[in-house]
Order: sequence, then C-alpha cells, then structure tokens
Amino acid sequence: MVDEKWSARFRTHHEIRSRGAIGNLNDGVEIATQGVHTRLIAWPGNGFQTESVHVLTLAPGEESALYEYDMADEAMLCFKGQGEVHLRGEWVQIEPGDVAYFPGRVPRAMRNPKGNSRDFVLVNQICPPQFDLYEPAGYYDRRRGKMKFDAIEKARKEASLGNLPPDNELHYDDSYPAVRAWNLSVEEIRRDGALFNMYRGALFSGIDVPMVLLLWPGYGVSRCGFHYGCMPPGSEAATHTHPVSDECIVNWIGSGLSLISGEYIPTGPLDLVLAPCGVQHGGKIPADAKGAAFPGGFASPPQLDLYLRTPHYKDGKYQTPAFEMLETK
Ligand SMILES: [Fe+2]
Repeated sequence: MVDEKWSARFRTHHEIRSRGAIGNLNDGVEIATQGVHTRLIAWPGNGFQTESVHVLTLAPGEESALYEYDMADEAMLCFKGQGEVHLRGEWVQIEPGDVAYFPGRVPRAMRNPKGNSRDFVLVNQICPPQFDLYEPAGYYDRRRGKMKFDAIEKARKEASLGNLPPDNELHYDDSYPAVRAWNLSVEEIRRDGALFNMYRGALFSGIDVPMVLLLWPGYGVSRCGFHYGCMPPGSEAATHTHPVSDECIVNWIGSGLSLISGEYIPTGPLDLVLAPCGVQHGGKIPADAKGAAFPGGFASPPQLDLYLRTPHYKDGKYQTPAFEMLETK
C-alpha cells in the first residue's frame, strides 16, 4: 500500500476533489449493489461527481438482479475469474480483459455459474453515479440531498482490505462474435451495447504512450469512457488534465511512478490514481523496470480533450476508426 500521505483512504473528499489521491482496487468501503458484494473505489463519497467505479465480486452460484438505470450508462470490465453477463438479450461468458458496455435503459445482469471454482470479479463504471445505491448503507441523505461525509470518511478509514492478487489474467479474446463491438455498427452499440476487449480499439498516441480508445463516442458510447495503454520501461506519459472529466486510472499490470499533487509516487499493480477533473496527472516507468506497465482509465464524460488531438472529431461529430490491436512490446 502507498504512503498514508497520498492514500485516498486518509484524504477527505475535498482533498481528493482538489488534489487527487492514490487508491487501490483492494481498498474501499464495502456495500451490496443489485445483490452483489461491492467495493466502492471512486464515487461521490470520495470526491467524484461524474462517475462511480466499483469492484464487484460474485462467488460461484451468485447472480445479480436483472436491472437497468434509465439515466446511467454502465461498463463491466472482467478482471478475475470467469462468469456471464446478460448483454444484448443473451447470457454471454466473459473473461479477464473483456468489457461489456450497457447504455442507460438497457437491461443488464451478471452471474457466476454454480460449477465454477473461482470468484468472478468485475470492475464496473456507472455514469453518472446512481447515488441512491449508497442510501441503504447510510451514506446518502435523501431528504437533504447530501452525501453523509462524516459516516463515509469514518467507513473509508476503517474499511477492511480485499485480497485480489496482483498477478495478471487480462488477455485478448474474440469469442461471441455476434456481440463484439468490432462486428457491430455504431448505431447498434449506441442502442443496445456491446462486448469490447481491452486489447483492441482505436489507436491513440496523444499523451505520448501507445493506447487504445475503447469506450468513447467514436464507437457509439455515450457517457462511459475507458482507454488502455502500454508503457514500456523508460517511457513517460505527458502530464495532463481533463477539463470536465473525472478520471480513475488503474495500474492493471506492472509498476511505475504515478504523478499526483505535483509529485511522482511509486505505485504497483492494482494501485490507482483518483484524478477528478482539473487535477493534473501523468506517469513514467523507470528505464530499469522489470517490464511494461499497463494503465487504463475510466473517465466520464468521455474525454473530448483527447479526441481533439485526433483526426476522428470535427465540429461536434465523430468518425469511427477501425478497431486495431494495442501494441504491447
Ligand atoms: Fe488522464
């Protein structure tokens, strides 16, 4: 775990909102959402306004409700194990590296079949935050329209740590071709959602490291945003801010130095940067690092400031570039 000085666990929501923090996928308040064990990583309880990021864990035999949010888009990134999501009207098996995208109003569900031997772990992004999800645990005051920050900050400091291991399971997968984003039109994705994979998207080099744009308007995604990159030893990502997008950047694989509050902090696998809009962030990988690092950020609304550096956007309209593989050397 990172030094207390930078840790999201010990920063107030005001401090995170104005200066950012370092968090971890194993560190956050635990509640239930849609009947599933949920750890709160980025949410209005720690300074985020435009997105929530949660870690969901389903043991074999567990299943969520079939639900929808009229207002919110949702993305489900399979991180560990194996399970199924209800997408485009059918149950689809997904593996680590797959990302299911659901526009608002599209029914969705997840389950871990009984015969499986391992937990099915998802990292979900909900845009905008459905803050009524936090009400049953006592973190939202409906009458006053306020997050209950005293209770939240106490719970954040006392939260027990999870036990997700740092070893990597993420990989490319093109099973279930009928629901894969690269086989669907932008209009089909916008209406009913699609299955993406972290290793295939629109190539982007606007912050100096090889990346793919995955969830973004060029592919018909509305409010969710997710991009994934590869940083070899000796590489450095341009220091940047997003004017209107809150961003949660996870170190999915590898270690490096993450820029926050004007300083480079050593971070390892599963560590993450909480960078609400306007908070400067970036990163670099020492030349003597053992291997490449793979950061990927959830941001909402999608980052127009990045798309303005591509030929795919003009006067409010997006073009749809081909899906290509992320360069991973
Ligand atoms: Fe960023």
